[in-house]
Amino acid sequence: MMKAANITWHAAAVTKEERRQRFGHGSCVLWFTGLSGAGKSTIANALSQRLFRANIHEYVLDGDNIRHGLNKDLGFSAGDRTENIRRIGEVAKLFVDSGTIVLAAFISPFAQDRNRVRKLFAEGEFIEVYVKCPIAECERRDPKGLYKKARNGDIKNFTGIDSPYEPPENPEITIDTGLFSIEECVEQIIGFLQEKDVVLKEVPAFDR
Ligand code: ADX
Repeated sequence: MMKAANITWHAAAVTKEERRQRFGHGSCVLWFTGLSGAGKSTIANALSQRLFRANIHEYVLDGDNIRHGLNKDLGFSAGDRTENIRRIGEVAKLFVDSGTIVLAAFISPFAQDRNRVRKLFAEGEFIEVYVKCPIAECERRDPKGLYKKARNGDIKNFTGIDSPYEPPENPEITIDTGLFSIEECVEQIIGFLQEKDVVLKEVPAFDR
């Protein structure tokens, strides 16, 4: 719902296509969704480093960080999560317009919220990456000690414990962090980006 009246859309003097041409790569959002502890942020950051080194304009948007600033007024009720994802979707759209490859790492547990974000983008610009990992493995890793707290009842509405997670039905990419290493997962995503001509050039691996 729009509240404001008397506002006019101004067409930008520099277009998304011009920026893409200048930068020499496409722009899109890689939307990482999955349980807490599945590896979304880790993979997004590893990929970000690889792209950066290849002179590709990229930026990570991460749940824990965005909730320190832009979304610090939001908690973890269903309504707040929906608003969290809506705002990130709009921010991601601005970045894609700026010619950037956005790596968005959010649990984003509700399929409807993710699909609403998808609709903001042109065909091919929204790439849903399902970071798949059994909850037992996420709970074993428990990098922030949150599963333990949730099991003890110290955190309410924790995704996978007492709040639902709806896996994507048709994600563009599924990476299984229970089976593959971080590097292997990153390679799979780079392969997809090359296949879709988002990045044309070599994305060098780190020194081996
Ligand atoms: S989302 O559901 O709205 O997409 P988001 O990705 O922004 O979540 O934030 C998830 C992060 O918040 C988790 O990685 C975890 O560190 C922290 N967190 C704190 N409370 C909860 C909770 N109840 N459920 C899930 N994550 C939580």
